[in-house]
Amino acid sequence: MPREYHHLTAEDRAHFLEHGWLKVSNAIDQRYMEEWMADLWTRLGYDAEDKSTWEETYIKLPRHREVPAPELCPKAWEKIVEIVGGDDKIDPVRERYYGDQFIINFGSEYWKTHEIPPNEAIGWHHDNDWYRQFLDSSGNALTIICCFTDIPARGGGTLVAEDGIEGVCKYLYDHPEGLDSPFEDTLYTHIPSCKKFATIEAKAGDVFITHGLLPHTWSENHLHYARVISNPHVNLVEPFNLNRKDSDYTMCEQVILRALGRESVPEFKPTRPRLSHYPRTAFFKRARVAEELQRMIQAAESKGLGPESVDSIYLKGEEAIKEHEKRNGYDKEIGPGGVLEWKAGNKYETVRPASKAVLV
Ligand SMILES: [Fe+2]
Repeated sequence: MPREYHHLTAEDRAHFLEHGWLKVSNAIDQRYMEEWMADLWTRLGYDAEDKSTWEETYIKLPRHREVPAPELCPKAWEKIVEIVGGDDKIDPVRERYYGDQFIINFGSEYWKTHEIPPNEAIGWHHDNDWYRQFLDSSGNALTIICCFTDIPARGGGTLVAEDGIEGVCKYLYDHPEGLDSPFEDTLYTHIPSCKKFATIEAKAGDVFITHGLLPHTWSENHLHYARVISNPHVNLVEPFNLNRKDSDYTMCEQVILRALGRESVPEFKPTRPRLSHYPRTAFFKRARVAEELQRMIQAAESKGLGPESVDSIYLKGEEAIKEHEKRNGYDKEIGPGGVLEWKAGNKYETVRPASKAVLV
């Protein structure tokens, strides 16, 4: 029996196939929007009203709270499940919880008066810093963009190269040995010649479901305000099947086949073992945990409250931290590409620390 869709409309499916992404309006539970945004500025250590305190133009935070993904964005989750072919296809543990690992694009005074065309943007990537990437890898089937603030035009929304997915799929087809992160210098060299760019514009609460191989980067925030998103993912249990006898492919698989201009790819076989490891970017985000906690506790104390009033996984004891680590791959060993350490000015350096242990 062919796949049935109860939550994705024909229009949704056509949009996802054509563009590689889908918008779900007003999808995030209001409760979490309010609770998680309430101490954003405390965590940052910036003054919301004084932009001179906004030292960085772009910051990625660690996660202090997480809830089951369907609880955060139920309407989007129903569509996510159908895009990947069913709930039983999704890893039962990994990234089943979505949280407040905010990515803030502040922009700057400079960008208020300067422009840049999309094909000159830098930082192109697809989200995978935690496994060896093959054409059929489904470790990141979908990158989800949860919008916690409005994102107006020119407001620093995620920039996607819709026709860039073809070059990514072709490169991966030609490299059955797979790529180990970082692969930013090899996999996206075709992006400057792409023609179909789109920049996310949103209302707070909107969710964008994007194909895991869709190349994206930040766009400059010309409005100089704090744009807040999170980017959780959907990890599958089995690799994509690009050779289904009944041709009843999932939406995710259809996007790849369409990019390759093929009906099936029976000949593709990885020539190296699959490998998953500690997410490279987690290292620098988690390095912030201790200082954020300190500020959160101080803020509570200034209201006459104790540390127990602070809501953070890192204050819930060893068991809770262990669960959190498993859900997010922090229990894995560091991979061949090391991890990233953050430097001022939104710069990063690859390091190979003796221990990946964080912090608290
Ligand atoms: Fe990304």
